[in-house]
Amino acid sequence: MAYDVYDSFAFFYNKYWTAAAPFLMEKALEPLLFSGLPEGAEILDICCGTGNNAAMMAKRGYKVTGADGSRAMLSYAAANAPEAELIEADAREIDLGRQFDAVTCLFDSINHITRPDDVIKAFGRAHAHLKDNGLFVFDVNSERASAEAGERDFSAADERDAIISSAGYDKKSRLTSYHLTMFMLEEGTWKRNDLTIEEKYYTEQELVSMLHLSGFSGVRVSEGWEDLEIESFEGRIFFTAWK
Ligand SMILES: C[S@@+](CC[C@H](N)C(=O)[O-])C[C@H]1O[C@@H](n2cnc3c(N)ncnc32)[C@H](O)[C@@H]1O
Repeated sequence: MAYDVYDSFAFFYNKYWTAAAPFLMEKALEPLLFSGLPEGAEILDICCGTGNNAAMMAKRGYKVTGADGSRAMLSYAAANAPEAELIEADAREIDLGRQFDAVTCLFDSINHITRPDDVIKAFGRAHAHLKDNGLFVFDVNSERASAEAGERDFSAADERDAIISSAGYDKKSRLTSYHLTMFMLEEGTWKRNDLTIEEKYYTEQELVSMLHLSGFSGVRVSEGWEDLEIESFEGRIFFTAWK
């Protein structure tokens, strides 16, 4: 099953969203993952997007495989992370037939999987790709961060592109909807594209029990600001799970 929702957004995500991201993510992953990994360890980064974190991990000497369901996202990943092996695959179904020292799924990609049974499938796939004692690290948005998404509304314009992102949170369904209006100048004509991306808020307890259901035997939860001391990661909750 292809996951191509992100295709029309890939250009904008690559251009406007990811600049400081790998630097901050490296700080978070240092105590959660890198400190316990052997040199040259093999890492599978699912929902790798435009490959910025894959590039950061490859620069540290890890052997990185990035997987994403969006071909457009992967085309940017190929430029950003030329050292990584890249694979088009849905997180719920990925089956590479081999195992890694670690699996990551970063920048609230799990929130993009809006059905709990699909999250369990993705967790099961992460589990299946881990060697014994391997670690699975992912992060999600807290409910407060989800509810405050509207306060982070964003717009940007350049000579040949423009984007407006406005978000709202529905407490009942626990869905944050990001309404994206995008313009691209193509052969002298401005082309408009509208897209809504949804993210589902999951409680810590739900995620821990879904991890157990998927075969993980242990989980540690860390808060991006209080535990990891990364101010702009306030409201970002990290999970480290092991087989
Ligand atoms: C918020 S972006 C994060 C990208 C990257 N991890 C980062 O840190 O920049 C979410 C990514 O997850 C991918 N994605 C969402 N659901 C997916 C699924 N079911 N299978 C594969 N990729 C998926 C999207 O295509 C997108 O690239």
